[in-house]
Amino acid sequence: MSTAINDLVSDVRSRLATEHIGQRIIGFDEVDSTNVCAREALMAGAPVGSVFVADFQTSGRGRLGRRWQSERGVNLMFSVVLRPPAELVSVTGILASLALRSAVEPYTSPLPLAIKWPNDLMLDGLKCSGMLMENVSGGLVLGIGLNVNQVVFPDDYATGATSLLLSTGRHVPRAELLVSLLSHLEARLLDIDQTGVSRSLEEYEMYMHRIGKRVSLHVAGSGRRINGTIVGIRADGALKLDTESGEQYFYAGDVTSQPASENA
Ligand code: BTN
Repeated sequence: MSTAINDLVSDVRSRLATEHIGQRIIGFDEVDSTNVCAREALMAGAPVGSVFVADFQTSGRGRLGRRWQSERGVNLMFSVVLRPPAELVSVTGILASLALRSAVEPYTSPLPLAIKWPNDLMLDGLKCSGMLMENVSGGLVLGIGLNVNQVVFPDDYATGATSLLLSTGRHVPRAELLVSLLSHLEARLLDIDQTGVSRSLEEYEMYMHRIGKRVSLHVAGSGRRINGTIVGIRADGALKLDTESGEQYFYAGDVTSQPASENA
């Protein structure tokens, strides 16, 4: 019997013209987490660019130990097996964020589409996509969750989340968007040199959410909250924050707008 995910996968296969990313694509009607599938596959020697996509995840994972929830069959949730050379591991998130933004923009223009450090995509100020990268011995799993056609979000997401449909009023064909995403990932990730990396850092900063603005950073793992102005991103993926003790660099955390008390 044909299921939505089988249709999605065969549609993607018939349109995709990449050399590596998505050439092996496995679809799940339901799975715990596509990142777990990709991780196991990577360790078992799966080829670079293998993709695991699901219509529903029972234990979708987010950054910093959070969950990723998504309605069945309306969004995109997928993970890609990567084996970047050592010198590109730290920029993979930057490159993947730019690929994601390039693929989504044609569907959301003219609404503003920004990259919130480290890898969230903000559509008109609301989060429409998140990325979870996991280091696995010998490689990297890149997991992307993109809210495409969902219109109702659970209460704990409601204030900060959106989907492409919710923000633009336009339904987006998932297969077409996934083909574009995989093609942009291949172009950005698999054929990059040092000049490309420098250009990508500049491009990331061009689209960086709240760059030049006062923010509050919740530093992951420490419970600390630091106020400062976003200066940009370093080549190793660190956030550059101008704080009262000078420029500081952070690798994991959550940026929020400045507490009202400081703006008064
Ligand atoms: C975040 O914003 O916290 C990151 C969310 C990443 C969600 C995606 S959905 C596909 C892949 N599988 C997972 O379990 N997580 C990632």
